[in-house]
Amino acid sequence: MKKEIGSEFWTVEQTAEKQHLFNAFKRNQRFFLSGRTALDFLIKNIKAKKPIRKAYLPSYCCHSMIQPFLDNDIEVIFYEVLIKENKLMIKVDPNVECDLFYTIQYFGFVDEQLDDFIRKIKQQGKLIVEDATHSLFTAKAFHTEADYVFASLRKWTGLPGGALVWSNETLYAPASKTDSNKAYIEKREAAYRLKRRYIEGEPIEKKAFLTLFDEAEQMLDKDYRGYGCGQEIQEQIEHLDIAKIKKNRQENAAFLCEKLRFCKDIELLYKAVKQDTCPVFVPIIVKKHQRDPLRAFLIQQNIYCPIHWPISPMHKLNVGTEALYKNTLSLVCDQRYEIEDMTSIVNAIIQFFERK
Ligand SMILES: Cc1ncc(COP(=O)(O)O)c(C=O)c1O
Repeated sequence: MKKEIGSEFWTVEQTAEKQHLFNAFKRNQRFFLSGRTALDFLIKNIKAKKPIRKAYLPSYCCHSMIQPFLDNDIEVIFYEVLIKENKLMIKVDPNVECDLFYTIQYFGFVDEQLDDFIRKIKQQGKLIVEDATHSLFTAKAFHTEADYVFASLRKWTGLPGGALVWSNETLYAPASKTDSNKAYIEKREAAYRLKRRYIEGEPIEKKAFLTLFDEAEQMLDKDYRGYGCGQEIQEQIEHLDIAKIKKNRQENAAFLCEKLRFCKDIELLYKAVKQDTCPVFVPIIVKKHQRDPLRAFLIQQNIYCPIHWPISPMHKLNVGTEALYKNTLSLVCDQRYEIEDMTSIVNAIIQFFERK
């Protein structure tokens, strides 16, 4: 077996029995191909009932969260998410005119900063959309005030697709295709197969599956609207081994936080992992413009940590909000790994700064 930490998954952790994962949410539920497909659907669902002109989104986001609004002719305005005194600070303007407020609990860590604001804008009759992609397996997965909640599962495990929408509102039938985007799914599954063989030690060029993953993402970027996720993926989601996903991630993330708390060259964006928290990654702020050199050093040690998120022309940033994108690194803590692997990450980070 090849030992690498991070990057794309190659397996899906399954249980024999069905998990009834999201029954606790007690809301109407529907499956989709991807997070952006789910978002496009819920926007259309809202628009069928009342017009929305302006959406208020966080400046710290993925382009795929902005795209569905623009594609549905909705103006997007951003509230600032930035680092202040080594903590994440969210600056919403209560006087901003908008019809829809978009909220997210980053990386799965519960953040109470917006609780009062969310209660207030709910009283004003504005719609609240919560992106639970990162917080799906945290006990408080979303605010009860949220009118629509959605989450993409592609980031949690080796599923080629899969996202859900939950709402107390009636969810209309998707307008067009109920099947998945087959060309995209096939491309991604081919990439998983190749990566699996590579990890199992076959002489496979890395570039071969990395290109397939890239091509698949480009296909999704171009053609994401109106797709369901297909029966097979739905069944995989319903049999996900959530207990394992939660346990390993909590333990791994808690270990990283504990060991890195005193590293003076970085700062943890969230200082500890509570029992009810299931992180998707452990974000750190890397001081003195060392984020990219640290990331490159970790890659040399076969540790692949993503950056959230690439900046696109759809983003509208200023010096403060851009700094968050430029200085943070997301440490891998997922269910493929154990404490021994987390020790490798910690040691590599310490080694990088000791060499300086
Ligand atoms: C927080 C968050 N929400 C939504 C999305 C969109 O999900 P998908 O890539 O499945 O369309 C992403 C994608 O990176 C994301 O990070």
